[in-house]
Amino acid sequence: MMLELSFLILSLTSISILILICFFRSTSHPPTKTPCPESYPIIGNLPSLLRNRHRFHDWLSDMLSKTPSSTLQVNNFLNLSHIICTANPVNVEHLLVTNFSNYIKGSRYLDFLQELLGHGIFNVDGHLWTVQRKIASHEFNTKSLKHFVSDVVKSELSESLMPNLFKACDHSLIIDMQEVLQEFTFTNICKVAFGVDPGSISSLNFSKAFDDAVEIGFSRFMAPLPALWKLQRSLNIGPEKRLKEAVKVINEFALEVIKSRQEQDGGKNQDLLSRFMLLSSDMEFQDQEHKRMFLRDIIISFVLAGKDSTSTALTWFFWLIAGNPHCGSLIYNEISSAAPLPATASKARIFSYEELKNFHYLHAALSESMRLFPPVPINSRTTVEDDILPDGTYVKKGWFADYSAYAMGRMEKVWGQDCREFKPERWLDRDGVYQPFDQFRYPVFHCGPRMCLGKQMAYIQMKAIAAAVMHEFEILPVDGGATAKKMTSPPYRLTMVLKMRGGLPVRLKRRVTAQQEVNKRD
Ligand code: HEM
Ligand SMILES: *[C@@H]1O[C@H](CO)[C@@H](O)[C@H](O)[C@H]1NC(C)=O
Ligand SMILES: *[C@@H]1O[C@H](CO)[C@@H](O)[C@H](O)[C@H]1NC(C)=O
Ligand SMILES: *[C@@H]1O[C@H](CO)[C@@H](O)[C@H](O)[C@H]1NC(C)=O
Repeated sequence: MMLELSFLILSLTSISILILICFFRSTSHPPTKTPCPESYPIIGNLPSLLRNRHRFHDWLSDMLSKTPSSTLQVNNFLNLSHIICTANPVNVEHLLVTNFSNYIKGSRYLDFLQELLGHGIFNVDGHLWTVQRKIASHEFNTKSLKHFVSDVVKSELSESLMPNLFKACDHSLIIDMQEVLQEFTFTNICKVAFGVDPGSISSLNFSKAFDDAVEIGFSRFMAPLPALWKLQRSLNIGPEKRLKEAVKVINEFALEVIKSRQEQDGGKNQDLLSRFMLLSSDMEFQDQEHKRMFLRDIIISFVLAGKDSTSTALTWFFWLIAGNPHCGSLIYNEISSAAPLPATASKARIFSYEELKNFHYLHAALSESMRLFPPVPINSRTTVEDDILPDGTYVKKGWFADYSAYAMGRMEKVWGQDCREFKPERWLDRDGVYQPFDQFRYPVFHCGPRMCLGKQMAYIQMKAIAAAVMHEFEILPVDGGATAKKMTSPPYRLTMVLKMRGGLPVRLKRRVTAQQEVNKRD
């Protein structure tokens, strides 16, 4: 109770300090001349920021679309930090490719996410990153991908996901599609990357702890004053206390994975974790504990990469399909022309790697849904040396350079006037063949040397799930798809990955014909 109270007081005080600073900043400093619109948008709009927290990404998109070159500069409180945020493809190319070495993760990531990610691939630069990137990239070649689909995804679909959905459908249950998908992708990444079935480990509390830790880690990036969360951490109160508890559960899980692998491994496994275990036996560590922490950081990074990104993308995909039923019909036509209904209606049709590759409309619909709802909505880098972006924006050493993939999907300059509409057709040529767009217009998977390693795997997995599910069921959101029409304020949570607020509760409806129902009962 005491702690809760002091936390409350702390928060209230900090908010009033912010408002004071904000007032001070926006009245006493006339804007300086820079190519991007001045006016200290976030500072000047702190009340507006608070009011728009639930639609942060849309608020940012609105502001960015009003600037001449889709780039904003924000001077933070007391000039403690500076941010430029862009939704301009030319700037994105510069930040992520042309001048890659000048825009790094830097000490901020290490500082903000150290408890969760340690020195894992997402959190480091330089040598530590190069080594992990090189080892991990072996895991994502065509051969591994085929194995991934034919073994892991197929068996997970036919033995777990589809039977569960049939059961839920038969009992007319309402299920949270987001949660079901998250469970699926979590099991998948554990099996494919670590060769471990998380069900066999006490993973019950892990997912919850992991989600908490990600959310609290992200809120540090959003905190106007880092001093505040650092104080909370040293006092072990509020979210920082929960983070500490969550990290304990997370570490236990990772150590269980390592232990179970050490027991079963005869050195013949080819998955990601075995590659890193092999590497770690050649590396010099201070002690066993450091070696374990090295492997722990890798495990957690890949859970982060594989667990929520694809499930989030699919959740918005099903949400959009519910609001755009004609697209659902086109997908159904595509997949059912490849596969006549199975003879027994109680068994799901699972598609092969080759079949999935030929689903161009489905591919387009997934790309289109991630254009509007990129799983990683905003991404940030630290500037090493003073630089000038191609549009003339000045960036100084130590400034944060961000790009918003979410805003980019909503720029008329990038996608035209229909940018806010869900139109898979924009990805298809006249023959219905999928045509990728320039990656700088669509940095959903990042670009350049740090581009997502799991892009192909993610597409294959999403197509496999979407095809299997849509072949058997119509997905009916309990709200009748009403929210899917509200594109100005979609229900997302403000965290690292664009999760749906409140999940996606749905009912399932079988597509099988009456005759097949009769056959099934016989
Ligand atoms: C729809 C699904 C996915 C999306 C939208 C996505 C997006 C991204 C983005 C934006 C980044 C850059 C992050 C940053 O630098 O801060 C990234 C990096 C990465 N992704 Fe993905 N990802 C997806 C799925 C996956 C999957 C399934 C895996 C692996 C199993 C994966 C593995 C990685 C790795 C290892 C990196 C780090 C690359 C590096 O820093 O060198 N991703 N991804
Ligand atoms: C705040 O920082 C900006 C950008 O570096 C600079 O132009 C401005 O003069 C600074 N203001 C103060 C009061 O230091
Ligand atoms: C999960 O957490 C609860 C308390 O928070 C604990 O009692 C339980 O043993 C944990 N379960 C597992 C499987 O670790
Ligand atoms: C990249 O950044 C450096 C500063 O580190 C700057 O001097 C250089 O001009 C930039 N290069 C390009 C191609 O813009």
